[in-house]
Formats: sequence, C-alpha cells, structure tokens
Amino acid sequence: MKHQLLNSLSKTAVSISFLLFFLHPLSGGATTPLPHIVSFQRGFTQLFGGDSNLLRSDDDNTVHLHLNQYTGAGFRSSDLYNHGVFSARIKLPSEYTAGIVVAFYTSNGDVFEKTHDELDFEFLGNIKGKPWRFQTNLYGNGSTSRGREERYTLWFDPSKAYHRYTIFWTSSKIIFYIDEVPIREILKSDEMGSDFPSKPMALYATIWDASTWATNGGKYKVNYKYAPFVTEMTDLVLHGCVSDPIQELLTDNCARMDNQLETLRYNNITPKQHIAMKRFREKYMYYSYCYDTLRYQIPPPECVIDSTLRQRFKENGRLKFERRHHRRSKKGSQVLSSQVYEIQEQD
Ligand SMILES: *[C@@H]1O[C@H](CO)[C@@H](O)[C@H](O)[C@H]1NC(C)=O
Repeated sequence: MKHQLLNSLSKTAVSISFLLFFLHPLSGGATTPLPHIVSFQRGFTQLFGGDSNLLRSDDDNTVHLHLNQYTGAGFRSSDLYNHGVFSARIKLPSEYTAGIVVAFYTSNGDVFEKTHDELDFEFLGNIKGKPWRFQTNLYGNGSTSRGREERYTLWFDPSKAYHRYTIFWTSSKIIFYIDEVPIREILKSDEMGSDFPSKPMALYATIWDASTWATNGGKYKVNYKYAPFVTEMTDLVLHGCVSDPIQELLTDNCARMDNQLETLRYNNITPKQHIAMKRFREKYMYYSYCYDTLRYQIPPPECVIDSTLRQRFKENGRLKFERRHHRRSKKGSQVLSSQVYEIQEQD
C-alpha cells in the first residue's frame, strides 16, 4: 500500500519534471526516480547543535536544521563511502539570510587531518532582494592550498521550493548536479594526481554563522532578529561503497560498486544536459579559479578552458563589468547582471 502510494507519487514527480523540461530551458530532461533514499535513523548521526536545532519528521525522511543565537546544527552520514551518489532535496532559509552558510558536502577531515578530501556545495546567505549565491569546490589529499572554487547565482529562488542537489563521485569523474542540470564536471587526469579525491568520505550537512566572511566579505552579518533560520532537507540519498577509511587504503573492495556507479544515469551527461550545463555556466557563474590567472598563472590541469567563458572573465577570474551592458534585450537579465556586478565589487 505504502509502496503503491510512493509509486504513484514518483510518477507524479516524473510527469511534473517532464512538464518542467518543456517550460524551463535549463531543465535537462532525464527523469528516473531516485532509489537509495535513506532515513535519518538508518544513515545519519547528529554532529552539533542542540535537540531543538535538528528536528526530524515522523517518517524520518526530512530533517530541519535550525540556526539560532546559540548555535547552528549539522549532521553527517554514519558511514564513509568510497565513491558514490550523495544527494538531498534542500530548501534554504528565506528572507534575511546574510552571514549564514548552509553547506552540503562530503569530507573525511575527521579521519585524515592533514590529507583530507572534500567536495562542496556551499550556499552563502544573502540580503533580501538579492539572488542567492553558492559555490562548489574540491580538495584532494590535503590540497587546501589549491582552492578550486567556482561561484554562481541560481536560476530560481532556493528558499521557495525543494530542489535536488547531488554530488556524483566515481574513480574517474565528479559531477555536481542541481535537479537534472549538471553544473560542473571534473574529469580525473593523471596530472591532477591525488588532488582528485580518492579516500572514503562521509556526507555532511550543516547550517552555521559565518558572519565574518559569507556575505559580501563579511559586510552583512547574521541578524538574529530573524532567527531561527531553518534549512529543510529531505529524501537524502546515500549510494556507494561503504568502506573503512583505514582498511580501504590496504585493499580495494569497491571495484564492483565502482562499476555499478558507472551504469547510473548520473555518469553520462546527455546532449541536452550538456547544453543546459553550458548555458548555466555562461549565465550564472560569476567566478572560476580556472580563469583566475592572478592566482594560477597556469590553470590547474583539470581546467577545460572555454573560449566563450574566457572572454567573459577578467584576469582575476571574475566577470568583466561590461557584461551588464551586453544584455539589454531581456528584461530581468539586466537586473541579475547588475546584481552580480554589485556582488563581485563588494565580495
Ligand atoms: C597524500 O599526501 C601524503 C602527505 O603529503 C603523501 O605521503 C601521500 O603519498 C599522498 N597520497 C597520494 C595518493 O598521493
């Protein structure tokens, strides 16, 4: 019975996203319902925050994380995974969210202090009326001196509805997805060496006060008049090779799962998704380390330099100011661009 209900719900979801595919130019079109949804009890443990900072729904598939004047909150997966799909539908806090960071990421920093690996989605709060911004990043084997940040705005308001954020990580590639849109793909190359994450990682989700840097370089701080700040996460997906981080270094028990991951739809970006990714990156990315030649005279080896994008970025990896004059044709994009302009100026 319950199964049937879920089934018909997921069919509804499929037809809705099918519809959205036609409505939204960024929609990628692939629509397989997600398996491997893990309840909080089965897959996760609280990391910090009080009892009232982490609230779970009755069915245990939804978690609310609260930031108030006393503390933020966070949880992590109980296991570490060597390669996998890490995903959740997330709704971010609304209204005044300056200084707040919501992070959804994989890491093994608890186990490997000096040689940790990490893959990040980090949402950087904003002041009302400004588009939400976020960044993705990766570290491998303690490469903390080589940040690989990209920063973007979003094509929707992430506080209004749930959207699915996915980190897909195999032995040969990493893809960050928002809903069905791949927004960033990193292919492992030999030159990248151990900067490509290779050791088992856990999934983390946190909300915390980052007043000192998150919003316009710390200019706008968390205002607790608007507390609590709540981020909602639901239908968490953990799918990968559960492995002991120390043992894993000695044996490779994950070959079968690695093969299986490569059969998932996440592994293959369709032509339509490629177009959506290109569009997203041309329209919404406002910083990329690959174009920041002040920081990296030679772009790190995984960078694929896109000639259209290169023209849009200055030598510091940020958008050229002229961009806001270039898009007069569409109402709205003008507004977005000038906001981006303002952010990069103050950031
Ligand atoms: C990771 O870094 C450590 C310490 O710098 C080094 O000993 C080790 O060989 C590195 N691992 C790989 C896979 O390169």
